[in-house]
Amino acid sequence: MPSPAVEIVPSILSADFARLGAAVDEAVAAGIRTVQVDVMDGHFVPNISVGLPVVEALKRSTAARLDVHLMIERPERYVEAFADAGADVLTVHVEACVHLHRTVEHIRSRGLQAGVALNPATPLGVLEEILPEVDVVLIMTVNPGFGGQRFIRSMLPKIARLRDWQARGGHAAAIQVDGGIAADTAPGVVAAGATQLVAGSAVFAAGVPVAAAVRRLREAITSS
Ligand code: DX5
Repeated sequence: MPSPAVEIVPSILSADFARLGAAVDEAVAAGIRTVQVDVMDGHFVPNISVGLPVVEALKRSTAARLDVHLMIERPERYVEAFADAGADVLTVHVEACVHLHRTVEHIRSRGLQAGVALNPATPLGVLEEILPEVDVVLIMTVNPGFGGQRFIRSMLPKIARLRDWQARGGHAAAIQVDGGIAADTAPGVVAAGATQLVAGSAVFAAGVPVAAAVRRLREAITSS
């Protein structure tokens, strides 16, 4: 059975924020349909990034879907605000949600796709009761908080186990992988079952124009 098309989802964290709109436009011109906005609160992760104003500004300036990755404590407090700001996908960390089922239901009630993210040390088993309810499972292949980190290769079997679990159970959540994704790591991630690759520095800080960076990543995926 042909593998589902793999989508590249650039993360804006590594973009030049002084020209963020232009950077996203370059990605869209290169065929990108979704960009990821990494929201960090300095508590759940040891970094502070962007929040609602950036999502609102991007919603005004691009036709790309906005996949908002909340790396914040108690994300349930901001579901309404990010939905209003224009998020199309809202991903919360299982480690940050006491009432994950309620939060996923809330996200979906606003017409958004609901994603759940797992840090590297978090076992897949936490998804046991919620997997049928989510649209995206985000497997972190770095410890969240920064771009440009080294890919954690021991996450590959975790991705494959999620793929196999979904195949057995008939679940169809996107398998999104995020952290250290580049031309050298992408083939292994795709072979393990990823359907969405989040790439920050490999797209926006690769030392080449965004279009060339996207092309390089796409060639690495299709040639694998
Ligand atoms: C890390 C973020 C990632 C990061 C990826 O906390 O969630 O999306 O931006 O950056 P790269 O692709 O450079 O590892």
